[in-house]
Amino acid sequence: MEKITVTVLARMKQEKKRISAITAYDYPFARMADECGIDLILVGDSVGNVVQGESSTLPVTMDQMIYHTRIVSRAVKRAIVVGDMPFMSYQASRRDAVLNAGRFLKEAGAAAVKLEGGAAVCDTIRAIRDAGIPVQAHIGLTPQSVHVMGGFKVQREEDRLLEDARKVTEAGAFSVVLEGIPGPISQKISASIPIPTIGIGAGIDCDGQILVLHDMLGINEGHVPRFAKRYVEIAKIAREGLTRYRAEVEAEEFPGPEHTFQK
Ligand code: KIV
Repeated sequence: MEKITVTVLARMKQEKKRISAITAYDYPFARMADECGIDLILVGDSVGNVVQGESSTLPVTMDQMIYHTRIVSRAVKRAIVVGDMPFMSYQASRRDAVLNAGRFLKEAGAAAVKLEGGAAVCDTIRAIRDAGIPVQAHIGLTPQSVHVMGGFKVQREEDRLLEDARKVTEAGAFSVVLEGIPGPISQKISASIPIPTIGIGAGIDCDGQILVLHDMLGINEGHVPRFAKRYVEIAKIAREGLTRYRAEVEAEEFPGPEHTFQK
């Protein structure tokens, strides 16, 4: 078993091997994802939406991210674990950014961090990278900037996106997430930079793909974006189990003798 590192991801791009990535927020799902051979596990600030029931990622705190990243890291043996830097953990100053990025490695067992933004965050990427922490950039639809973007909208400004990708690469990012970008633009970006691009709602031509776990497993019953293919319907199965349990308790059918200790 080869442990996935930033070097392995770079080699996968060179060898044209697609990178599989998924989000995870807890021990059981992180273990399943790792054992199923997923290469990169992102402890996303999407925890705010799919676990905490928030309508955006903005309320998520550093302490919450450290908690989730620590329990994910404990489960993962092969994949690279990336901790997502939450809103206001890196925007106010480079010092904050480096110290908060460091917490993901020092306290939570991550091997890298991700932050949102292109050209505007290059100095921050450089500072974190200079502290010995690999950084994954995230351009296109960046949910932490929802109020600046005027909603969760596909980003179509080709020149700006190409420039953002080039700049984050020059700043030392080891990879870049492309979110909510038309396929032909992602294709151009992926062909124009040496680091792996990981797409979400960005078409087939990225070097890898990422989805939010609760969307693709059918756990999230709220709004699911069009690009989030559902591979199974876990919420349906869970509801069936819970409904049967309630019915059996009410009918005095559970617990049966096989679930009962005798004297
Ligand atoms: O927080 C998250 O889950 C993410 C992915 C959508 C890339 O940033």
